[in-house]
Amino acid sequence: MIVLGSDHGGLELKNEIRKLLEERGLPCEDLGTHNGDSVDYPDFGIAVSRRVSEGSAEKGILVCGTGIGMSIVANKFPRIRAALATDVFMATMAKEHNNANILVLGGRVLETGKAREMVAAWLDTEFAAGRHQNRLDKIAELERELKG
Ligand code: RB5
Repeated sequence: MIVLGSDHGGLELKNEIRKLLEERGLPCEDLGTHNGDSVDYPDFGIAVSRRVSEGSAEKGILVCGTGIGMSIVANKFPRIRAALATDVFMATMAKEHNNANILVLGGRVLETGKAREMVAAWLDTEFAAGRHQNRLDKIAELERELKG
């Protein structure tokens, strides 16, 4: 299950991404926002990140105007590795090296075709594991230490 969320600044791009996921036959749930009214990005960032953090969704995609606010929110959550990407290389690396479980995009930064390519790259790339897993283990250890 892939959960999606945006504020008004990311609404249009989120709708395009939802179409892409549906075209690919991937189960997804759109947690809003659902219209263009001005909203607060943390509300939707929290809804998506909570689902991924607790494990009821495997992955999430968040979109705000720049992607910055959503990244800040998502990375507050345990077990979340949210990556703000601006091109296909970053989206690919976000999975290959960082095993990012949330991809964050800027609706006011990206053109739709490029964003679709980025989402496809993130979905289709395999995590390389090995030395990259060691690095993620260090982040998980830090998370435990900071919590305790
Ligand atoms: C909303 O105007 C804008 O601040 C938001 O979409 C996002 O870019 C925040 O980081």
